[in-house]
Amino acid sequence: MESPTSIHTSVLPAEVLSFLSLKPGDRVVDGTLGGGGHTRLLAEAVGPNGLVIAIDRDPAAIDRGARELAGLPVRFAQANYCDIPEVLDAVSIEAVDAVLLDVGLSSDQLSDDARGFSFDSDGPLDLRFDPTEGEPAWRIVNRMKPESLADIIFEFGEERHSRRIARRIAAVREKQPIRSAREFARLVTSAIPRQYPPPRIHPATRTFQALRIAVNQELKSLRIALERIPTRLAPRGRLAVISFHSLEDRLVKQAFRNPQVWEQLTRSPVEASNEELLRNPRSRSAKLRAARLVESPAFSADT
Ligand SMILES: C[S@@+](CC[C@H](N)C(=O)[O-])C[C@H]1O[C@@H](n2cnc3c(N)ncnc32)[C@H](O)[C@@H]1O
Repeated sequence: MESPTSIHTSVLPAEVLSFLSLKPGDRVVDGTLGGGGHTRLLAEAVGPNGLVIAIDRDPAAIDRGARELAGLPVRFAQANYCDIPEVLDAVSIEAVDAVLLDVGLSSDQLSDDARGFSFDSDGPLDLRFDPTEGEPAWRIVNRMKPESLADIIFEFGEERHSRRIARRIAAVREKQPIRSAREFARLVTSAIPRQYPPPRIHPATRTFQALRIAVNQELKSLRIALERIPTRLAPRGRLAVISFHSLEDRLVKQAFRNPQVWEQLTRSPVEASNEELLRNPRSRSAKLRAARLVESPAFSADT
């Protein structure tokens, strides 16, 4: 089935363009195509003599991008952004002038009932960016030992009620396997003590986020990408990363601290302006960091 038109609003668009400082003819990788908003801006900045290589793990994003961005200088690849070197090898490009990563989840994925990203979705609790690869979250919550589930929920969700939630999962699945996202969100909510005043976020937010990060091995992908991207940047090439989670932002911050590789363009992360927050509430937790490759970078041997 054809994927519907994107409803995703790109975050920090002007800031991304400013840090990547692209010029006509440049070659750039957008490692997270999503709804294609950033890719379009990058393609317009590099013009017809330039090229954007747009990557996403999600085949639906690639399919939509290819339709909606037709006519622009964009090539698409369904891949993990940690495999940027392999994607560039496949199109015989040695180095690019800039790379953008806008990590996490798109509004298109959130609104797709079949993927289970949303708390009120009747679809299976899948949570994979690439539905053809790896294990869906519903299978993990039905098979994993409660202690391991609690560890995941604590580590990747920073959820202090992780043990209670894991115990509730174990009790519920004994009667019947857990399947839908809605059912799972209710179960998590019922395991957490009621809070007054009620929290700003849905009580299952941290648990969903933790499972999503685990299912997609998101931190591992980001860690590998941060090591490998510098090896395929042209001299003085730029990398901009937008993250939505403190664990991701920490990885970026640590990577950019290496003065043998990076010259930081942002000392502290750039956040959305009040005007953008009003227009796009999803930008609330976005943090942008950018850096430029130093003149003679020193890479570790195994990248
Ligand atoms: C926040 S959205 C990107 C939105 C996009 N910048 C825009 O302007 O519409 C994140 C996208 O990254 C993709 N993604 C997440 N992790 C990925 C990975 N390791 N490799 C490739 N794509 C990934 C997701 O499938 C999702 O489509």
